[in-house]
Amino acid sequence: MIKIKKASDCRESDITPEPVYKKRREFMKTSSAIGTGLVLGGLQGNALAALDVSGFKKSGYTTDEELTEFKDATRYNNFYEFGTAKEDPASNAGNFNTDDWRISISGECDNPGVISLEDLMQGHTIEERVYRLRCVEAWSMVIPWLGVPLASILQQFKPNSRAKYVAFKTLLDPERMPGQQRSVLDWPYIEGLRMDEAMNPLTLLAVGMYGKPMPNQNGAPVRLVVPWKYGFKSIKSIVSIEFTETQPKTTWNILSPGEYGFYSNVNPEVSHPRWSQAKERRIGNFFRRDTVMFNGYADEVAAMYTGMDLKKQF
Ligand code: MTE
Repeated sequence: MIKIKKASDCRESDITPEPVYKKRREFMKTSSAIGTGLVLGGLQGNALAALDVSGFKKSGYTTDEELTEFKDATRYNNFYEFGTAKEDPASNAGNFNTDDWRISISGECDNPGVISLEDLMQGHTIEERVYRLRCVEAWSMVIPWLGVPLASILQQFKPNSRAKYVAFKTLLDPERMPGQQRSVLDWPYIEGLRMDEAMNPLTLLAVGMYGKPMPNQNGAPVRLVVPWKYGFKSIKSIVSIEFTETQPKTTWNILSPGEYGFYSNVNPEVSHPRWSQAKERRIGNFFRRDTVMFNGYADEVAAMYTGMDLKKQF
């Protein structure tokens, strides 16, 4: 049983974030579209039966910035397991079956195991946080994510003193994830964080967005959101979490180490070898804007990188 408050226990003002109030009509439009499954295939069937996220609580992590429209956030995705074009995941992930999802927790910890998503979330309140996601290709979005701080989840498994990093893995199943039938990436998709990054209060294990369970194309049923790093660190459809002593390998770094480093902190001063990272286009906006160091989260995260040369450790 998941001990979370039901939406009906709360006033609307308790559960609906301020920017959503302001865009009330759009929210209604989005919610009803989700309810009827009309917006996109990715929300039909099993996604609606996923983890109950209805009792989420509004958190202090929010912004006055306008939310990206739901249709853009769910139709312009990178999820190579369902194709390499931005519109592929919305077209191809509709039948992705996430029933009976299991996550293994292993490595340097006293309490390893294989558990269901419901078990993982048990005892935690799902909160809504409005975070920016800045992708390395210089586009960005503002999304109301639903999730639980990764730190509070990780602590359940009692990492030991050798746990210096956390490694994450996406499901490997070329039948359910047809993009894995092509060797465009080294499957399964893998990512990693340093322990202090994983434990940072901003790091979210997300199970939904826009008030609903995670759409398939956005990483159902569970994904990371690491808002001060480029989007590729936010690994989708996670099945494995491992505490490690050494720095884990990461998918994009394996593919192209000169372009994608382990840290991948949003940094306008460090260009990608093929383009500048100084500007970004918020999806839905015409004009580009200046990219901000750590994607605007410097106050919360800059101290973790004191003394590091972020041009070398990009
Ligand atoms: N996770 C997996 N498993 N496979 C992927 O291809 N793409 C990453 C990241 N997580 C990716 C992934 C990249 S490049 C980005 S920008 C974000 O997911 C996109 O997240 P979104 O679809 O929610 O915008």
